[in-house]
Amino acid sequence: MLEAMGSLISNRRVSTAISFDDFEEVMCDLCGSLATKRKSTGKVVCLKCEEREMVERVMAENEQLKRQKPFRLFDQNSLLTPNLRGAAFENYYPTTLDLGRAKEKMSHFAETFVPGSGENILLTGPCGVGKSHLGAAVTKALIKKGHSCLFINVPKLLSKIRATYNRDPEVTEAQWLELLETVDLLVLDDIGAEYRGNHDAESWAVKKLFEIIDSRQGKSTIFTTNYNSDELTKHLGSRNVSRMMNGTKVLRMPGPDYRLRNLGGGQGA
Ligand SMILES: Nc1ncnc2c1ncn2[C@@H]1O[C@H](COP(=O)(O)OP(=O)(O)OP(=O)(O)O)[C@@H](O)[C@H]1O
Ligand SMILES: [Mg+2]
Ligand SMILES: [Zn+2]
Repeated sequence: MLEAMGSLISNRRVSTAISFDDFEEVMCDLCGSLATKRKSTGKVVCLKCEEREMVERVMAENEQLKRQKPFRLFDQNSLLTPNLRGAAFENYYPTTLDLGRAKEKMSHFAETFVPGSGENILLTGPCGVGKSHLGAAVTKALIKKGHSCLFINVPKLLSKIRATYNRDPEVTEAQWLELLETVDLLVLDDIGAEYRGNHDAESWAVKKLFEIIDSRQGKSTIFTTNYNSDELTKHLGSRNVSRMMNGTKVLRMPGPDYRLRNLGGGQGA
């Protein structure tokens, strides 16, 4: 037994012993600088190449993090229902010509998007025609191109901001406002919906909303609403609506409610 152990130890000693004669200087096949070759194994070590590989690896990791940044920002801060997370142009099936045109215009907007162009769109139409779907589809397309985007349900946002006043918030009001101000594209979904029963155009909610809209001067915003201009004016006040419509194209989306498409009776297409 002892003998066996002794031979094991001496074997190991033999196999790990390093002799200087085992090394020779060679030229690196890859970069041509001086490298070291271990004769017994044939392995060549080039410090220059190792360093370059390390730098390349770190740069690739950084690049990947940079590419993921818009996805993370969107995932962590957007306020949207789970059924809209999968919304894309590819899975929007227009049921009328008008809706087909709306899809085309929104997809053209995404294709030609230039951050800082200040181009805004207001999508207006009845329930379930896909206003939110197309808004979310634009964010999806732009995030893939590396632009920062947020999809924000306005009523939810306002209650989140309101909640920051009462307890220690995860995201403070100032952080929300900065996020909303700085993203390349902001979707303000369901604007006007939070004013039910509170038609005061000077309410806290309306003031907060216009603080956000004003902060986006020169940036692009997509608004979606169920309301026509008269109804919006009633909820927001004419001064606010005219500020919101500054540089904003209106895209009307009349059509049947997609959610009711299987009910028949002339509702769905
Ligand atoms: N043409 C369509 N093709 C595929 N899915 C659609 C289509 N239209 C709507 N949907 C889906 O139906 C649901 C309702 O659409 P969406 O929420 O976009 O409607 P909306 O116009 O925003 O309605 P609301 O005014 O109630 O907010 C979503 O899950 C959306 O993905
Ligand atoms: Mg909607
Ligand atoms: Zn080398």
